[in-house]
Amino acid sequence: MALQEVTIRPARPDDAAGIARVYNEGIEERMATFETEPRSEKYTREWIENNPERFPILVAELDGRVVAWAAVQEYRARECYRGIGEYSIYVGSDARGRGVGKALMEALIDAARNKGFWKILSRVFPQNMASRSLCARTGFREVGVYKKHAELDGVWRDVIIVERLIEENMD
Ligand SMILES: CC(C)(COP(=O)(O)OP(=O)(O)OC[C@H]1O[C@@H](n2cnc3c(N)ncnc32)[C@H](O)[C@@H]1OP(=O)(O)O)[C@@H](O)C(=O)NCCC(=O)NCCS
Repeated sequence: MALQEVTIRPARPDDAAGIARVYNEGIEERMATFETEPRSEKYTREWIENNPERFPILVAELDGRVVAWAAVQEYRARECYRGIGEYSIYVGSDARGRGVGKALMEALIDAARNKGFWKILSRVFPQNMASRSLCARTGFREVGVYKKHAELDGVWRDVIIVERLIEENMD
């Protein structure tokens, strides 16, 4: 499928069902997050409606259907960390491997830059090669490994810390 068919735009409350569907798929796969509880459409709608202006939430659409979402959320409440955001990115399984994730991540970095962030970061399971490849292609650095960071289904899991500097906002 040609990448031109992908539309990336800020999320609206009506995207809640699509975002929750994609996220819940990611939760079920156990490859991306320690979260195990599915996210409801209602919870997701309230998140979008109450999301502070300075935190971008984006969706990717194929043929008018939400197939992916990405967001930057608060890293720490302390004022000195105001320019650091934690990102999330999820592409639905039927839309992966076609460049949607890369296009969406690049758009998220642009949105974070426009909102004044100087760094976005996250943690990735070492086995998540799709996520690690995406990070490598979009300017992230693997900082190091948190050993046995938390349990997922009763198993202690390591995570790799990844960060993407946004130099333009470091003046
Ligand atoms: C990680 C994820 C967002 C990538 O999205 P995607 O649309 O499949 O990725 P893209 O097609 O844009 O590919 C981006 C790069 O990663 C590479 N890649 C994609 N899937 C890969 C895989 N399974 N293994 C190795 N590399 C992979 C691509 O080849 C591409 O690199 P290239 O430009 O050199 O070809 C998607 O797989 C996903 O949503 N996974 C489940 C949720 C998740 O893991 N989120 C991240 C949480 S940290």
